[in-house]
Amino acid sequence: MIVAAAAVLTATVATAQNLDAGKPPAKLFADGCATCHRSPRGLAKGRFSLTLAWFLKDHYATSSDSAKALASYLQSVDEPPPRAAVRPKKPARSAARPAKPVQSQ
Ligand code: HEC
Repeated sequence: MIVAAAAVLTATVATAQNLDAGKPPAKLFADGCATCHRSPRGLAKGRFSLTLAWFLKDHYATSSDSAKALASYLQSVDEPPPRAAVRPKKPARSAARPAKPVQSQ
């Protein structure tokens, strides 16, 4: 009984606090950000999603959940960093770093 009441209370509080919950990040961006930022592209600038989420939470007072959602959205639409896009991975430097000899038991 107590558990049920607590669950209901928690659910009510959560709903009241997070008005943006459930909106897809693209919608959040269109509603809250597109006025000033015409495109979501180029905003992430290769930042870590955590840094970005902090920035968004700090500057735009969104809930941390929507800040996280927005951060990963911005990253997903952002162009990949040039280095990763242009250069294919080098082949493994097997000569420089010989594999550890496996010890037989
Ligand atoms: C009232 C206008 C306005 C709104 C609304 C707005 N921004 Fe901004 N935003 C700015 C300005 C101005 C800057 C500072 C630009 C700069 O420093 O180059 C900025 C900077 C940013 C940056 C950092 C860009 C950089 O170059 O470092 C990000 C990321 C960002 N905004 C995301 C968002 C997101 C996501 C939203 C919606 C939740 C949003 N903004 C809503 C005006 C706005």
